[in-house]
Amino acid sequence: MDKSYWNEKYWVRHMRDDDLDNIEDPWIEKYEDIFTAHKGTLLDLGCGVGQYSKYFSDKGFEVTSADISERALEYLSAKMPQISTVRLDMTETLPFADKSFDIVFANLSIHFFSKAETEALICEIKRILKDDGIFIGSCNSSAAYKYIEHKSSVIEDGFYLEDGGRSVRLFDKAQFDYFFRDWREITLCEIETIRFNKSKSMWEFVYKKA
Ligand SMILES: C[S@@+](CC[C@H](N)C(=O)[O-])C[C@H]1O[C@@H](n2cnc3c(N)ncnc32)[C@H](O)[C@@H]1O
Repeated sequence: MDKSYWNEKYWVRHMRDDDLDNIEDPWIEKYEDIFTAHKGTLLDLGCGVGQYSKYFSDKGFEVTSADISERALEYLSAKMPQISTVRLDMTETLPFADKSFDIVFANLSIHFFSKAETEALICEIKRILKDDGIFIGSCNSSAAYKYIEHKSSVIEDGFYLEDGGRSVRLFDKAQFDYFFRDWREITLCEIETIRFNKSKSMWEFVYKKA
């Protein structure tokens, strides 16, 4: 897909002034105990405008916020200059040293990639996590297929090209079992969330580096 989509279309359409103090679905609050146990360095991967970065910064984490969109990162930096930002492409080697982070967090941001890219990304996330580090996040669910069926074609199993040119992966349990086969599962559950005022099926996951 054309990666300028994120900067030129998505974050033009979805930029909102209230974003940082308005997490539509604060699903992460139920994992408070895990955050407390792993307090330290946290990478918000695919951070967008940074409402979760702010949440973690306010909780005392040393947050690094990373995204492909300069527009989103500029917005975040202007609102929260204390948070360091990194522009990166998740389909490339991540620009961090081995064992840099206690937590990698990715809210609805790792489901845009092919099987090979997803495998490489999850391997990179493992590399940059400390030995007992946690990867926590959320992903689109295959239950959402009914919403894109009429406007997409299949690229590979579970991975679709939408009419607008955006590629999207819809995760099912088998994909989690495959991609995270070398991790320790702490939590994996399917829920309904709200995103931009619309209902959305997603998975919540918490994995520990094994
Ligand atoms: C659905 S948004 C989620 C943003 C944020 N995590 C949130 O919850 O509001 C997906 C984010 O992933 C970023 N993204 C998409 N592809 C990327 C890539 N290849 N590398 C880095 N970031 C990417 C987009 O710019 C966007 O900010």
